[in-house]
Amino acid sequence: MHIFTKKSAYIAWRTGLTDHAFVPTMGALHDGHLALVRSARADHQAVSASIFVNPKQFGPREDLARYPRPREHDVQMLKDAGVAAVFAPGDGEMYPSGFSTEVHVTGPLTERFEGAVRPGHFVGVATVVAKLLLIARPTVAYFGQKDAQQVLVVMRMVADLDLACRIAVVPTQREPDGLAMSSRNVYLTPDDRLVAPSLFAALNRINHAYRDGERRAGMLEQVGHAYLRTQPPVQLEYLNVVSPMDLAELEVVHEGALAVVAARIGGTRLIDNILIGDVVLGARAHNEPSEHT
Ligand code: PAJ
Repeated sequence: MHIFTKKSAYIAWRTGLTDHAFVPTMGALHDGHLALVRSARADHQAVSASIFVNPKQFGPREDLARYPRPREHDVQMLKDAGVAAVFAPGDGEMYPSGFSTEVHVTGPLTERFEGAVRPGHFVGVATVVAKLLLIARPTVAYFGQKDAQQVLVVMRMVADLDLACRIAVVPTQREPDGLAMSSRNVYLTPDDRLVAPSLFAALNRINHAYRDGERRAGMLEQVGHAYLRTQPPVQLEYLNVVSPMDLAELEVVHEGALAVVAARIGGTRLIDNILIGDVVLGARAHNEPSEHT
């Protein structure tokens, strides 16, 4: 497996590939990331991944400094998963002195939910993903439904900037008790870890209420709120059922609506989401990644 820290060497490697799948990450890899690699490998000859803890998407009081960076372990995991090349640039390679450009996807897609709680986060994400896609020039880039709002922002940006890349979405990988896998789960204390699956449990209760016939978004949200009130360590930030296209509020919920949740448990901030009716974000069929132009 090639490991590139310089853009020029990585670009030289990917030039000439006719079919190239790309998996951008910030490292601290787990089976959620590997699910993206597995999907990419199933459909494409050459798969590359990036490892870059992007400082521009962290707020001043966020966890940039303590974000886990188990580099050797990450590289070994990608090698074992059959990745052909890793692009792992330093900060100066991505943002040399004088760097002054931001990619700003405007409107509710970036203003609500993660955009509201983490101002500037999606400018950082859109800027780095635009750069990574232009450097990697993949046929397809793979993203996880775990970060559903990020997927929508990236799809919007790729369409708006005419980036010649398809976006594939892979279902959220979970621990056996339902907790969505996340690099930040390592921050959970043993007590917090016991409570953490309650976010997914709340989403499932909403889904069950929908299956039992409830269609009013407000009532479905109440079901989730009521459940989380029984889990005192969970400090809820938001829990909403919204349009999966643009995150707009809904009065009446249909299959495929997006239920999103964010909460703090102890010192750890967690997010999760499901599509109502257990649909996969942008999917053609269950467990099959879908590709969008
Ligand atoms: P990171 O948090 O490392 O996640 C990299 C990719 O893995 C994202 O597409 C994310 O949605 C996906 N992922 C994380 N946990 C997952 C899970 N449990 N199941 C399925 N997929 C999962 O997201 C980022 O990095 C950054 O914002 C990035 C896109 C790399 C830009 O810096």
